Amino acid sequence: MSSSTKKTTWKSMMLILSCCNCKSEFNLEMEEEEESEKKKLKQGSFQRLCLSDVSNSSSSQAIEDLSVSLAGSKLYAFTLEELREATNNFSWSNMLGEGGFGPVYKGFFDDKLRHDLKPQTVAVKRLDLEGLQGHKEWLAEIIFLGQLRHPHLVKLIGYCYEDENRLLVYEYMPRGSLENQLFRRYSAAMPWSTRMKIALGAAKGLAFLHGADKPVIYRDFKASNILLDSDFTAKLSDFGLAKDGPEGEDTHVTTRIMGTHGYAAPEYIMTGHLTTKSDVYSYGVVLLELITGKRVVDKSLTNRGKSLVGWARPMLRDSKKLKQIIDKKLEGQFPMKGAMKVASLAYRCLCHHPNPRPTMSDVVKTLEPLQDFDDIFLRPFVYVATNQNGNIDTR
Ligand SMILES: Nc1ncnc2c1ncn2[C@@H]1O[C@H](COP(=O)(O)OP(=O)(O)OP(=O)(O)O)[C@@H](O)[C@H]1O
Ligand SMILES: [Mg+2]
Repeated sequence: MSSSTKKTTWKSMMLILSCCNCKSEFNLEMEEEEESEKKKLKQGSFQRLCLSDVSNSSSSQAIEDLSVSLAGSKLYAFTLEELREATNNFSWSNMLGEGGFGPVYKGFFDDKLRHDLKPQTVAVKRLDLEGLQGHKEWLAEIIFLGQLRHPHLVKLIGYCYEDENRLLVYEYMPRGSLENQLFRRYSAAMPWSTRMKIALGAAKGLAFLHGADKPVIYRDFKASNILLDSDFTAKLSDFGLAKDGPEGEDTHVTTRIMGTHGYAAPEYIMTGHLTTKSDVYSYGVVLLELITGKRVVDKSLTNRGKSLVGWARPMLRDSKKLKQIIDKKLEGQFPMKGAMKVASLAYRCLCHHPNPRPTMSDVVKTLEPLQDFDDIFLRPFVYVATNQNGNIDTR
């Protein structure tokens, strides 16, 4: 890395952010947005700033620069008071969930609260000051999601930094996480075609990160980090653990082992060596969860052991055995040939050794032709329309 890049300040970073963000219009159609991102990357029209470039800045200077330099950019700086108002005082009834960073609340911005923001529903993530995560994860989220825009990455709208408070404001994803949708009890099964749509969308998100000029390793790919739009478009969220990929001659990044039990690649757990292929393994785990409808780690189980991968992987390449592990809730509503191809893809992603695993762009190519299955369900799986605010209309 050149020394000039190393000297980048928060201010210059935010100027870069504002330049790059100006180019992606809020209302661009998905395909156009994807194309324009590809073009931008090809032309090298902006150099993405790495986390290491800014994490050494003194934090008081950083904050000053942050608020000054973000004026006019597409990342909004919010006050705690504004977010309090948007979320009904962080009320319990607005809570969408809670993860390692802290609780997540549904919020709403109207013209009165912020006239410079279009009225919309948002998700506000508030750092739990007693928790294990902190400024570092908050900063990583801003550095990565502030610069990377893609139809399959959740959109970061802004942030709040006041005293010790750290918050992040995202577009609201009406269907929550894949984890909530796939493993929800007492609900109709998620149809095969929806599973394939989610698998493809998430794969495109990862392929975009891996294919960037400066590749990004996501490191925390799992069902709870895949958020779903009203039409089941998948978007990756949570870049708190993301890492810039290896540079120059390096083949991997060496790092502290972090991530989520069950999803992390075996070589990463053993050595701390992180590559894009570690993400491919985690992707294979999620693909297996989509195929089987089972959680990778289910503490209540003893018969198949606690590991889904150990139990199911050997059966992925045998059509008779495959039928036994495909989600029973589908009641046979899946295309056998397509399922075999997806299962074989999952098998390859879950290779113990990283080299034989496919790249994420191979995964996208394999899944693209497998999208046209018409599910015929006796019990309908209802696609619920959303209203203007992005809320699911339950009438
Ligand atoms: N943008 C969003 N729109 C709608 N719901 C969201 C959004 N972001 C998060 N959520 C909800 O909040 C929950 C918690 O999310 P969060 O990412 O903080 O934790 P997690 O993914 O469950 O755990 P971890 O900390 O291990 O990532 C999610 O499962 C989801 O239901
Ligand atoms: Mg998460």
